[in-house]
Amino acid sequence: MPLLVYRPRNYDQTHEREEFRNLCQLLKERYYSSPDEFCIFIGNFNLGDVELDGIIIKDEGVAVVEFKDYGGRITAAENGDWISEESGQRSVIKGGSGKKNPYTQAKINRNACRPILSETGALTPKQANKLASMIVFHRPASIENRISPHIKWLRVCDERSFIDELDLIVSSDCDLQREDFERIVDRLALDPSWLCVRYSNVEVLKDINAEVTNTQDPVEVELFPDDNPAPVFEESSISDDNKSPAALPMNHQQDDSQHTFVSYIEQVFSALGINGRFEIFDVKNNPVPSWVESSIVTNEFLVASPCVEFKKKIENFLSRPVFERDGIVYWFDGEPIEKNLDSVSGDTVPERIDYPESRLAQNRLKTSTRLPSWLDHFIYEELKGRWNADHEKFEFNLHSSQDDNLVYLGTYFPRSYADSFCIFDNLFSIDSYHSCLERKDSLKILSIGCGTGGDIIGLLTALLRNFTQFNNDIYVYAVDGNSHALSIFKSVFDRFCVSTRCSAHLYVKQTVFDGFSTDCLSDWPIQEFDFIVSSKMIGEIISSGSGNRDNSYYDFCKTFLPKLTESGVCYILDVTTKPLHSSLFFPHMMSEQLNRLMREECDFEVLVPICCSHFGPICQDSRCFQQKEFSVSHSRRSSDKCRVSYRLIARKEFVQSLGLVFPNKRMSVYEGTICPFTNSFDGEVDPYKLGSV
Ligand SMILES: C[S@@+](CC[C@H](N)C(=O)[O-])C[C@H]1O[C@@H](n2cnc3c(N)ncnc32)[C@H](O)[C@@H]1O
Repeated sequence: MPLLVYRPRNYDQTHEREEFRNLCQLLKERYYSSPDEFCIFIGNFNLGDVELDGIIIKDEGVAVVEFKDYGGRITAAENGDWISEESGQRSVIKGGSGKKNPYTQAKINRNACRPILSETGALTPKQANKLASMIVFHRPASIENRISPHIKWLRVCDERSFIDELDLIVSSDCDLQREDFERIVDRLALDPSWLCVRYSNVEVLKDINAEVTNTQDPVEVELFPDDNPAPVFEESSISDDNKSPAALPMNHQQDDSQHTFVSYIEQVFSALGINGRFEIFDVKNNPVPSWVESSIVTNEFLVASPCVEFKKKIENFLSRPVFERDGIVYWFDGEPIEKNLDSVSGDTVPERIDYPESRLAQNRLKTSTRLPSWLDHFIYEELKGRWNADHEKFEFNLHSSQDDNLVYLGTYFPRSYADSFCIFDNLFSIDSYHSCLERKDSLKILSIGCGTGGDIIGLLTALLRNFTQFNNDIYVYAVDGNSHALSIFKSVFDRFCVSTRCSAHLYVKQTVFDGFSTDCLSDWPIQEFDFIVSSKMIGEIISSGSGNRDNSYYDFCKTFLPKLTESGVCYILDVTTKPLHSSLFFPHMMSEQLNRLMREECDFEVLVPICCSHFGPICQDSRCFQQKEFSVSHSRRSSDKCRVSYRLIARKEFVQSLGLVFPNKRMSVYEGTICPFTNSFDGEVDPYKLGSV
């Protein structure tokens, strides 16, 4: 959610002002539904001597943005003129003053900015070195991009594909944390008066400023002097005019943090189209009003509003519980209060995040992501996927109807996308693995139980973000027993190819497994795969077997692991519930069966979790419960969570060639449950993150 937009001065040209506004709006939509990510957009900014149309600093990368007032058919290349043909008119697209083309202009600006970004200490030299550039056309454009695929730092797009292109900017050296953003605001001397409040989540600044200066004394705020009356929203005050809701009740003194919080809630109401009023109570520094039924105060502010009809919408949007009482909805918001409220007195200064904590955060797998906007639009608006997590039918999907598949598409597809995207994105960030894959001309992927294909689209998106040379040579072989799911997957796959300009190839086969076998591959000439993926399917097979197919994780791997290429990786992932007929949960079964298989098959080794890679072959714990939580945001849901258990397995020789160093640290396989083999180590790393140190 946190987006901060700065503009030190307005642009001279109308088209620049328009493009700035459009990009801000797109960024606002992008970051509103992504609470764990941070982004700073600075428009019309002089960085040293370089005049930039914009610069974007996000968690995973930094990009200089050039605005171009063109559209139509555009040809872009390193050498020669860039041409636009629009409404019968042919024009040369200039790259600033002189005879530069936009490529040269972008290169000059990028080279000039890099040393400044590192000398100011805003970025590390490595991060600055990976600075990207985006050339964004103001009007709709079809771009023939002839720039060599080896030039990875430059992205050329129009406003329609701006967010998708921005999402693809990711640098292995960049994993900016909250404190990095604090430092960047400080080192780039971003003045609060330059903030474009309309687009910014200004409420985060109070934390940033508090942590940079740490001088704010808590302000005494007298609230509810008349002994905690519930807020009274008179009928007439729930106005049907179109203005923003009225802010805090007048008799409440406010400090800066409340002002910024009020502005944040105004933005939320306006984003949701709510015209009613709200009141905000500072429950961190004051007693909780007695009319509040929930005794669990989770956050510093209590928000109350008479807009009961928007309860669900607010809940979905904010992803936090919203309560209802006597015609009022209310919820806790703002900075979380970790301790019991009773122990938080009015004069307690908020705790600073200390350095070891943030080091730990860097050692954790990134587990949240967001659907690319093309995919979000396609599954909800065009295919009419529906979000409905209460749907009870989704333990068995083999016989799902077309309508069930649309609910699966709108609800569970994004979760499978997120699991797979985050897991593979981490794998591809390992230099030794990356260079190995980079040497390949083509990739072959096998998906067993592909369903509507969320797992495969997640994998493909991670591939595109991390590599450039597979654009023409990705082959996906997908097997599933449900014809409706396969046909939805085909549509999503086709749209993926069009939207990302990737001409990958899909081969599908409808097969119902009754015991695993490689017969399903017999129609295809390919017999070895760089990725073998099975997400949330083996558990269904176990459940449907009522005790006869309990060994399915073992059977699956025994059957398909030999189909891996020398450097192939197998991804087995499942939900963490349990089948009705067993007292064991799926993670118990997965751990026991795959450890057993690894003891028997000395050609293969687990890559992730790291502790199972190291200790799995000697681990005899038949009740090891593992779980990792991923979250995905999209237009229907913010931070939708999914708990899974998974393993990555590869050939032993290959795993050893990757040169991964085993961190001698404690590893938690499930919410603080430490793998007993690592219990005696000091420090802690995330066993799900490759490259942890
Ligand atoms: C929960 S969905 C997972 C789909 C996709 N892999 C994902 O992660 O979103 C499970 C899929 O397994 C398929 N499936 C279940 N049992 C099967 C069987 N015996 N043979 C073939 N497919 C099966 C279902 O049709 C369904 O599409």
